[in-house]
Amino acid sequence: METLTQLVHAVYLIAAVLFILSLAGLSKQETARLGNTAGKLGMVLALAATITLALINSERNAGVTAALIFLALGIGAVAGSWKARSVEMTQMPEMIAILHSFVGLAAVLVGFNSYLTDTHGDAVHLIEVYLGVFIGAITFTGSVVAWLKLAAKIKSAPLTLPGRHWLNAGAVAISLALMGWFIAAPSIWPLIIMTLLALFVGWHLVMAIGGGDMPVVVSMLNSYSGWAAAAAGFMLSNDLLIVTGALVGSSGAILSYIMCKAMNRSFVSVILGGFGADDSGAPSGGAAIEGEHTEISAAEVAQLLKEAENILITPGYGMAVAKAQYPVAELTSKLRAEGKNVVFGVHPVAGRLPGHMNVLLAEAKVPYDIVEELEEVNEEMSTTDVVLVIGANDTVNPAAEDDPSSPIAGMPVIQVWKAGKVIVFKRSMAVGYAGVQNPLFFKENTSMLFGDAKDRVEDIVKAL
Ligand code: TAP
Repeated sequence: METLTQLVHAVYLIAAVLFILSLAGLSKQETARLGNTAGKLGMVLALAATITLALINSERNAGVTAALIFLALGIGAVAGSWKARSVEMTQMPEMIAILHSFVGLAAVLVGFNSYLTDTHGDAVHLIEVYLGVFIGAITFTGSVVAWLKLAAKIKSAPLTLPGRHWLNAGAVAISLALMGWFIAAPSIWPLIIMTLLALFVGWHLVMAIGGGDMPVVVSMLNSYSGWAAAAAGFMLSNDLLIVTGALVGSSGAILSYIMCKAMNRSFVSVILGGFGADDSGAPSGGAAIEGEHTEISAAEVAQLLKEAENILITPGYGMAVAKAQYPVAELTSKLRAEGKNVVFGVHPVAGRLPGHMNVLLAEAKVPYDIVEELEEVNEEMSTTDVVLVIGANDTVNPAAEDDPSSPIAGMPVIQVWKAGKVIVFKRSMAVGYAGVQNPLFFKENTSMLFGDAKDRVEDIVKAL
């Protein structure tokens, strides 16, 4: 038995290394598949080792324990595979949000179970239980609200209760006081009251954030769910869960930071309010823009592309909505076959989730080596002949640089207006996600190609 237990711990170590390799692999497109495989292998090892440990330590008949574990595993596997197969790319953020709520709920249940079954009652264990339940409860309701907002099951406008910051601060202060009570005189009551307060804080925190900021919130809840899992690992004395939780917790925090930086938003302000929104939830700010825009036809764009040498394609959320990545990839290979230099410029927050555009382009088999980042394409802009802005808006808005009153002032953008000719693919003159008009559309070297991005790109491919 002892040797088996030692073996389980060795397998835990291997799984932890595989999880780290998985994160490292996922950081680059070329190695993402390998990273994914490392993660899956790590998870299979972790599950096998944990089940073995549960059977060794089982107080009742090991057969009954095994049957219960495999029943739960079977239900989870069937539900998980069905959902993963049926989910649309555009529903990914809401799926991730609801999965985080499960981690939060699990941490709460593990916490209560750990308190009720543990007879030692030492202070360190009580703190682990208390913090695990606190973080878990916030993650649970916060993630459920994020899911409801992303799935449009409730209104996404921020809810602004009077004195909302005081409400949160008060709930946290009472929870701290309850922790003192819980440690000094352990009882289930402070734990229950704190759980209710934390459930409220999670609900209220995310209700106060506008639907548009939800991707940052989801990544923040991802971080919380990691810390909740790490806390559960401490309660269960499970090293692997501590390591995995810390990996998820810190990578989620770094991702939230990167997203905020790319949007030129302070992390604290995202957590406490909506993007460019006043209390009514309507976007506001920015100078009024007047001017005429010019339109262009698909055939004319095809002609421009025939004459061009250096072409930049910068996609945005509209490409995802239109599912235009396949005709865009076809257009790219056609142009490259004719000896044109075609490059993709991907803004770090184009679309609605981190890496959104990279995933779509990879799906359509656009070669990785022609997909560049914002800084790189901005450097090459003056030598670019034609830019195709496919369903992007805020990420190419010059107001971010020129208009200090704009809600997106200071956000780094792709400076497409510095190229020879800009073609903007969209359906109307409507604003983008941040709710501000785009002066790019009225510039002399810009022409609008109206219509669904997929149809228009297909028209160009035909005309070529
Ligand atoms: P947006 O500014 O959201 O603009 C997308 C444009 O696509 C819209 O103006 C829309 O105009 C057009 N569009 C929609 N459906 C279309 C279709 N079927 N065919 C053609 N055009 C279509 O896009 P962006 O430039 O990608 O910027 C992303 C925004 O989201 C940024 O403000 C960013 O801060 C924010 N955001 C991003 C993230 C992440 S992690 N990516 C997270 C949170 C927030 P029409 O309606 O006129 O067609």
